[in-house]
Amino acid sequence: MILDYERRNIIITVDIGFCKKDDFVQVLNVDATSPYAWPSSFLYNELFKKENTTCIGAYSPLDNKLIGYGLLDISVKNSFIINLVVTREHRRKGIGSQILIALSEVAQACGSGKMSLRVRLNNTPAQSLYVMFGFVGDEIIPDYYHDGESALLMSALLPLIIPEDLHSY
Ligand SMILES: CC(C)(COP(=O)(O)OP(=O)(O)OC[C@H]1O[C@@H](n2cnc3c(N)ncnc32)[C@H](O)[C@@H]1OP(=O)(O)O)[C@@H](O)C(=O)NCCC(=O)NCCS
Repeated sequence: MILDYERRNIIITVDIGFCKKDDFVQVLNVDATSPYAWPSSFLYNELFKKENTTCIGAYSPLDNKLIGYGLLDISVKNSFIINLVVTREHRRKGIGSQILIALSEVAQACGSGKMSLRVRLNNTPAQSLYVMFGFVGDEIIPDYYHDGESALLMSALLPLIIPEDLHSY
């Protein structure tokens, strides 16, 4: 655990690795802590039925429990972040950042020069995270979500700009 006085919270060092098939229930549990949780069938398809999708998990070093995950659709032209969630009690401790860095490294290792994502227009916490890593808003997609909320399309060139205090991850 690293104390960093420039941030509002303690940064927790987690174990980052690829999610396994056995982790699916844990992925669902993490996703359920998001106000924007996906149906389990959607996540199952994204995780196990699509060839180019990969899942990166953040595991607690204490008990190896999954406390965050990121889903990435990899393509050379533009890798797309399908979702990124950290359990509510572990937010604001640098875990989302660590997953995002790992996703970008996987994308880069696969030859991607760019990453993009869609985020709800009112989801300012997530947008702040992405902006911190150099993502910019490209386009607003009106009425994108089933409840009528608009989406913001954001993108960043790879490698991402890593903030100084996160360079060691
Ligand atoms: C978005 C999310 C993944 C961020 O995870 P996290 O582990 O809390 O992120 P980090 O601790 O790495 O935060 C990094 C930076 O993002 C910004 N940020 C994160 N949460 C924030 C919040 N609630 N308010 C304002 N800024 C926030 C800050 O700039 C923060 O740096 P700081 O703590 O030094 O100020 C998490 O809030 C979450 O799971 N939300 C629900 C699901 C979701 O909205 N996913 C996005 C889908 S596109």
